[in-house]
Amino acid sequence: PDPGWTTDTDVVVIGSGIAGLVAALRCRAHGRVLLVTKALLDAGSTRWAQGGIAAALAPDDTPEEHLADTLTAGVGLCDEDAVRVLVTEGPDAVRELIELGTTFDRSSDGEIALTREGGHHRRRIAHAGGDATGAEVSRALLAALKDSDVEVIEHALVLDLLKDATGRAAGITLHVMGEGQPGGVGAVRARAVVLATGGLGQVFSATTNPEVSTGDGVALALRAGAEVADLEFVQFHPTVLWLGEGATGQQPLISEAVRGEGAHLIDHAGERFMLGRHDLAELAPRDVVAKGIMNRMRETGASHMLLDGRHLGAAMWENRFPTILAACRHHGIDPINEPIPIVPAAHYASGGVRTDLHGRTSVPGLYACGEVACTGVHGANRLASNSLLEGLVFAHRITAVLQDELPPSPTPTPPLPSSSEEAPAQGVSAQEVSTHEVPARDVRVGGASRETAGGLAVGGLVDAGVRGEIQRIMTSYVGVLRGADGLEIAARELDEVKRGQAEPGVEAWEVTNLFTVASAIVAAARRREETRGSHWREDFPERADGAWRGHLVTRLVGNAL
Ligand code: SIN
Repeated sequence: PDPGWTTDTDVVVIGSGIAGLVAALRCRAHGRVLLVTKALLDAGSTRWAQGGIAAALAPDDTPEEHLADTLTAGVGLCDEDAVRVLVTEGPDAVRELIELGTTFDRSSDGEIALTREGGHHRRRIAHAGGDATGAEVSRALLAALKDSDVEVIEHALVLDLLKDATGRAAGITLHVMGEGQPGGVGAVRARAVVLATGGLGQVFSATTNPEVSTGDGVALALRAGAEVADLEFVQFHPTVLWLGEGATGQQPLISEAVRGEGAHLIDHAGERFMLGRHDLAELAPRDVVAKGIMNRMRETGASHMLLDGRHLGAAMWENRFPTILAACRHHGIDPINEPIPIVPAAHYASGGVRTDLHGRTSVPGLYACGEVACTGVHGANRLASNSLLEGLVFAHRITAVLQDELPPSPTPTPPLPSSSEEAPAQGVSAQEVSTHEVPARDVRVGGASRETAGGLAVGGLVDAGVRGEIQRIMTSYVGVLRGADGLEIAARELDEVKRGQAEPGVEAWEVTNLFTVASAIVAAARRREETRGSHWREDFPERADGAWRGHLVTRLVGNAL
């Protein structure tokens, strides 16, 4: 539909997690800022983050050691220059978060209390409220936002990117559902667009992600012709509370910090099965632990494994993990007296919209930070608690370059969607997801690449009613363990899913985003014929550095927007 209304700003930021909030607050230095978010301001993933935020803050720690652990977790696919930025700028960024009002837990000597998580060789995770770090970060940033002149539109699903005649990002279209705001489809004209829409866990049936994490930013970027990378690396968190067979939707997370403080993974016979599988046992990188759990489940035929934290004692549970204790008790489990049933579940997109070291995407004027972005810091498997840090550091880096990169005022007039379009998400037709390999930036810059059609058509609007079917397909065939046969079935079933008639509307636009992202994940997962990090191919069980130590870049080819 034609936008019913338009508004102008200098920078429009989409998303209200740590990345979006920091970007919005900092961009005020460059002019007017409008922040658009899909639900309430605190509905995204940041609020749910438990473990904390990693940074070399301890006197005996260094950014070099944080770098080494991050590179190891990323299994040869991190871009070292991006990781170096993350770990060297991280400590100051955390201090700035404190200046903005975030209260981290302190040890008895008054220093920031630091814990350990998987893949870290040192205590380097700052936390708040015991296990409610994201809630505290979110609270502090939202308080700062309230005191600022950033304009906010809540309950607004972003639809598509607007471009000017040169192909530069010049705003967005959106559908606003909130009361007291201009409603329906509108357009925001802006001199720069910052995507901070978060993750895509809702592509799967069971995930730690909240309902809003439907991959909207990745889908928008694909439709806008931007490059997306590393989508096959969806991280499955090893320890999510097992709620029984077929549990769907957002699942309660049991933070890695519980293992960091000494809890053990055991099977139903009480055996610590991670011993002997990795030097760090339960504190191995996340992909290794998730695989260890899945393997033990297969070996024993069990539906889940157990996390034993009884020996941590009541005081530790009550003071350090109050959120997790309450969630377990809510589901009838008392971790002080019994092991917690756990299973891996979809948690984090290590890939996303490909950016450079300043958050610039391949579309001029479009920037990305936070989980929606692929800055190169995570490689094939994100290191625990590097996600809040990445959002923070790269939001800063975007704002640092924006000053010089904003086109001159007045705001350019972008072409608006034509009235012949039934819905913004239908502005593309019969496009195909294609993937091509590019060398990892730490190997060789630029250079190109065999291009390989993935053969998945993603154009057209998808019916709102197929959300569950997409999630079922992805969970059945594209989960922790993948193989060519299952991936082929996934591609075929996704193709069938989109054949029905679809009525335009918010639900359908969101499900179309899920479908687009699911298709792109399947295309990349089929293409990468090796096992690396969180991409586990049972038909290609080894890592193949010779052929595959590079990124798979996905983009839509076909009709331009
Ligand atoms: C956790 O607390 O285990 C999650 C931390 C993360 O995803 O980095």
